[in-house]
Amino acid sequence: MPLTALYPGSFDPFTNGHLGVTERALPVVDKLILGIARNARKRSMFTVEERIEMIRATLAHHEHVSVCSFEGLTVDFADACGASVIIRGLRAVADFEYELQMANMNRKLNPRVETLFMMTSEEYFFVSSQNVKEVARLDGNISGLVPPIIADRVLAKLNSQPKD
Ligand SMILES: Nc1ncnc2c1ncn2[C@@H]1O[C@H](COP(=O)(O)OP(=O)(O)OP(=O)(O)O)[C@@H](O)[C@H]1O
Ligand SMILES: [Mg+2]
Repeated sequence: MPLTALYPGSFDPFTNGHLGVTERALPVVDKLILGIARNARKRSMFTVEERIEMIRATLAHHEHVSVCSFEGLTVDFADACGASVIIRGLRAVADFEYELQMANMNRKLNPRVETLFMMTSEEYFFVSSQNVKEVARLDGNISGLVPPIIADRVLAKLNSQPKD
């Protein structure tokens, strides 16, 4: 049976860390779905639609990968798109506790979906969407932290916003 995996996240914005996980997951699955969680509680820099478009442009040369958004439980969305696996990345001990809790909750909610973890690559273990946004807001160089398309969009977004 073909293996479909769901890589869920907020990807606000998509970083080289996310790209690393995506590119390393692709050879081990038949189809990878990047699912952007619509989360009203998280204040975001980009709308979900902007994120979908940016990630599609970044991954345009990759086959077997699609990008969409979802609301509600991740395991329900996994079921709905025929994914038997959820992919998550691990950067540090801090990620571990949260991810352990989440993976167990998801298994309780839906034992048919298994969570698989990918270790961060050493070049990007310190990269998060949050710290990329912080560096960019403080006029730091984010070009090695996110794909070129994303760097352009972040700078354009900051230039279109009044500084606070
Ligand atoms: N640099 C990275 N290396 C490996 N995995 C990562 C990296 N950054 C994020 N991930 C993983 O990608 C998944 C989705 O992450 P998410 O969208 O929350 O990104 P984030 O960078 O943690 O964003 P935020 O700073 O807003 O929390 C999570 O499993 C997260 O651990
Ligand atoms: Mg996070």
